[in-house]
Amino acid sequence: MVRIRKAKLEDLLDIYNIIRHAARTGAVLERSQQEILEHLRDFIVAEAEDEIVGVVALHFATPEMCEVRSLVVAEKWRGLGVGKRLLSRVIKEAKQFGFKKIFVLAQAPHLYLQKGFKLVPKEKLPNKIWKDCVNCPKFPQCDEEAYVLFLSSSSKK
Ligand SMILES: CC(C)(COP(=O)(O)OP(=O)(O)OC[C@H]1O[C@@H](n2cnc3c(N)ncnc32)[C@H](O)[C@@H]1OP(=O)(O)O)[C@@H](O)C(=O)NCCC(=O)NCCS
Repeated sequence: MVRIRKAKLEDLLDIYNIIRHAARTGAVLERSQQEILEHLRDFIVAEAEDEIVGVVALHFATPEMCEVRSLVVAEKWRGLGVGKRLLSRVIKEAKQFGFKKIFVLAQAPHLYLQKGFKLVPKEKLPNKIWKDCVNCPKFPQCDEEAYVLFLSSSSKK
């Protein structure tokens, strides 16, 4: 059984390793243990058989907009709906916090399009969102597109 829950301090190394592994293919940006520690409250994990099998982070970008970051499912757990559940959970959290929009920068948007995210020109995102891009090995040749989901205020529960 896969359980979706908020990250705990003891998950730090597992979160670091799962992201680092996926970052080797360029699918997500590598994050240091220190950075993960400082943002641990952003993280939601999927736990199965006493292992962390998936992670995602909800990053507060501006008062209106938050960002889905570091969505990764461990290879042997892919295709089982874990990614979809992690994404549903961050969307729910974003609504509960009162955000109007949630966005993601992604190369392979299938999962996001399924959830109702729409492709938008990257220039529509606030400038401050790009401050972490300089840390990306692909910078300035970005191969990701921006997808935004508008969150209805009627569904905050
Ligand atoms: C993307 C990822 C998180 C999906 O996790 P998952 O648990 O396998 O996803 P799910 O089983 O919930 O599948 C949800 C849908 O996404 C599709 N999907 C799965 N992996 C995908 C991928 N790499 N790219 C695009 N779509 C993908 C599935 O086919 C499924 O579609 P369906 O419902 O029409 O069959 C996982 O493949 C992964 O960790 N990839 C490497 C890191 C990455 O690319 N992260 C996203 C950064 S934006």
